[in-house]
Amino acid sequence: MKVNFVDLKKLHKPIREEIDKAINEIVDNTAFVLGNPVSSFEENFASYCGTKFGVGVSSGTAALHVSLLSAGIGKGDEVITTPNTFFATVEAIMHTGAKPVFVDVQEDSFNMNPEKLEEKITDKTKAVIPVHLFGQTADIKPIQEITEKNSLTLIEDACQAHGAEYNGKKAGSLGDLACFSFYPAKNLGAFGEGGFISGSNEELIEKARILRAHGEKPKNTHAVVGYNYRLEALQAAVLNVKLKQLDNWNELRRKAAENYNEVLSGIEGLILPKEMPYAKHVYHLYVARVKDRTKVQDFLKQNEIFTGQHYPVPVHLQPACSELGYKQGDFPVAEKLMNEIFSLPIHPYLTKEEIEFVGEKLKEVLK
Ligand SMILES: Cc1ncc(COP(=O)(O)O)c(C=O)c1O
Repeated sequence: MKVNFVDLKKLHKPIREEIDKAINEIVDNTAFVLGNPVSSFEENFASYCGTKFGVGVSSGTAALHVSLLSAGIGKGDEVITTPNTFFATVEAIMHTGAKPVFVDVQEDSFNMNPEKLEEKITDKTKAVIPVHLFGQTADIKPIQEITEKNSLTLIEDACQAHGAEYNGKKAGSLGDLACFSFYPAKNLGAFGEGGFISGSNEELIEKARILRAHGEKPKNTHAVVGYNYRLEALQAAVLNVKLKQLDNWNELRRKAAENYNEVLSGIEGLILPKEMPYAKHVYHLYVARVKDRTKVQDFLKQNEIFTGQHYPVPVHLQPACSELGYKQGDFPVAEKLMNEIFSLPIHPYLTKEEIEFVGEKLKEVLK
C-alpha cells in the first residue's frame, strides 16, 4: 500500500465539474485580474472568518508583508514572532526593514508561549505575529492582553489555520489583521499561489487594499508606493468553489487525526500532537515526535509511506538570519521540537486502512 502525504487529485475529483465551470466562465469573459470573483471571494471568506473585511492577495507572504506595512511597520521597529515557523513569516518582517525578535514556544502546542512574550517587548516593538502552526491557534487571549496593554498591533499568521477555532472564534478574527496562504496543499488551497488578509479595522484593511495594487487610489493616482500583489480571478473562482467544502474537509481531517490518535496511542517513544483545551484543531499537518526520526522516516519511506518535516531548522538558525546574532540554545523548546518532529500523511480522504497501515509500520520500527 502506498500512502501519499497529500492527495489533491482525490480532493478535487468530486468538485471538478464545478471548478471547471467557474474557470471556463473567466476564460470566456477574459476578466483575469481582480473583478467579481475576487470581490465575492473576499466577502465570502471574510464572512467565514467572522470579520467585516477581506483583501485577496497573491500569496501568504504578500499578506504578511502588506499587513505589516499597513500597520506602519518599517526600519527601526521590532516585530515579535516564533522561531519554529515557515521562513516566510520572518521574511515578511525583514522585507519591511523591521527586526524580527523571537519568543520560544510551548512544548505541547508548538505555538508561542505567552508567558515568555512580555519580556521581549522593548520601546521599539510595534507588532506581534503569533503563528497558528499546523492548524491549531496560538493561545491568543493572554497574547491579546499583552498586545493591548502595550499598544502593539496583533497580526495572526493563519497561513496553516483555515477554519481553526479558539474558544469558538475562528482564526482570522483573533487579531487586528490576519494572514492566510492558499498554497495548493493548504486546508483551503488555490490552483497555484494565493493569499488573504482578514480584519475588521477598516483603516488597516483599506491601507492593505491600496498597497496590494500599486498604491493606486483613486484610479491613475498612486498615493503610495505599493506592490503588484493582486489575487488572480482564476484563483478566486477556484477558492469560491472550494470554500464551500472547507468545513467538511476540516471535519474529515479531524476524523483522520482521531483515527491516528487511536491507532498510534501507546507506541513507546512516539509523542502524538495535542489538541489544546481552547482549540479546534484543523490538522493542516499531523505532527508527531520521536527521538530517532531519521530511522523512522527512512523505514516508512521504504514502505511507501511519505512523511515530511515542518520544519527541521528553526528560523533563528537559518543562514539568512545570521546577521540577527542568534545562536544554538537561544530557544531551547523550539530547537528540541525541531529535532524530533515529523509529519505523517494527512488529508481529508486518508482512509482508516491507510492509517492502520501507518500504525503497523510505526509499531514495527519502534518496537
Ligand atoms: C506559517 C506560514 N506562514 C507563511 C506562509 C507563506 O505563505 P505563501 O507560501 O502563500 O507565501 C506559509 C506557507 O507555507 C506558512 O505555512
